Amino acid sequence: MYKILKKEILNPDVELMKIEAPLLSKNTKAGHFMILRTNKDSERIPLTIVKNDERSITIIYQKLGFSTLELSQKNQGEYIEDVVGPLGKAKTINYHQRILAVAGGVGAAPLYPQIKAYKDLGCQIDLIIGAKDKEHLILLSEYQEICNHVYICTDDGSLGRKGFVTSVMKDLLEKEHYDLSIIIGPLIMMKNSALLTQEKNIETEVSLNPIMIDGTGMCGNCRVSIHGKNYFACVDGPDFNADGIDFDELIHRQNYYKNEEHQCRMKLGN
Ligand code: NAD
Ligand code: FES
Repeated sequence: MYKILKKEILNPDVELMKIEAPLLSKNTKAGHFMILRTNKDSERIPLTIVKNDERSITIIYQKLGFSTLELSQKNQGEYIEDVVGPLGKAKTINYHQRILAVAGGVGAAPLYPQIKAYKDLGCQIDLIIGAKDKEHLILLSEYQEICNHVYICTDDGSLGRKGFVTSVMKDLLEKEHYDLSIIIGPLIMMKNSALLTQEKNIETEVSLNPIMIDGTGMCGNCRVSIHGKNYFACVDGPDFNADGIDFDELIHRQNYYKNEEHQCRMKLGN
C-alpha cells in the first residue's frame, strides 16, 4: 500500500497527489510514467510522474472517467493499493540551445519534468501555455521559474491572449528561431501545433496517451501508427517524434469511450 502524503485541488477538474513510493521515485527519469490501482479491484490508470524526490512521486490527474473519480475520493493520509513503474522509455535529454515548449490544458503536467531536465542542461526555453480559462492553467509558477518567456493564452481570454496555443505559435515562429519543440496536450492540439513547427523544419516531439491496459507491450491497446508502422506507446514511448504520427486514427480511437465517460460523470454528479 502506498501512502498519500499530500493532495491538492488544482482546479475543479484537476488534482495533484504526492505519494510515498521510494523505489519508484529513486528510479524515475523524465518521460517515465507509472500505472496505479486505487483499490484492489480498480482499473489501472497510467499517469506521468511529474516530480520525484528521495521518497515520493507527484502525479497530476484530470477527473475524466470512473477510475480518476475513484482516485479523487482518496485523501491525504489514506493509501493507494499499488503502483507499478517506472514504465515507458525515459526521455533522451540532449542539449538544444533554444526550445519551444507548448502545453495544452492538463498536458502541462507531463511536459514539466522534461522541461525541468532540459533547463538543468542549460537550454533556453520559451513556453506557450494554453487552457480553457484562467482557472485551468496549471503549474504556471513552476514554469515561470524555469522558462525564459511564458506566453499565456486562454480560450475565453480570462488570462493572457484569447485563443488557442496555435495562434500564439504562429506569431512567435515568425520572429524567433528554435532547435526543438516539445508539445503536450490534447491530440488535436498536438496535431495542429506540430504542423506549424514542422513547416519551419523544427524537430518536434509529442507525448501520446492512448488507452493503456498492461503498460508492458502485451495487450496492443496503446498502438500508434507512425509512417504506417505500428508502435506501442507504453514501451516505445510515450514520447515520439511527431513526424508521421497518424493523429486522426488516435483521435478516432480516443472517442470510443466518450459516452461511457460522460455517463459515469453524470452518475457521480460531476
Ligand atoms: P483542453 O481541451 O482544455 O485544451 C487545452 C488547450 O489546447 C486549449 O486551451 C488550446 O490552447 C489547445 N487546443 C485545444 N483544441 C485545439 C485545436 N483544435 N487546435 C489547436 N489548439 C487546441 O485540454 P484539457 O481538457 O486540459 O485536456 C484534456 C485532453 O488532454 C484529454 O483528451 C487528455 O487525454 C489529453 N492529455 C494528453 C496528455 C498527453 O500526454 N498527451 C496528457 C494529459 C492529458
Ligand atoms: Fe498494452 Fe501498451 S498498454 S501494449
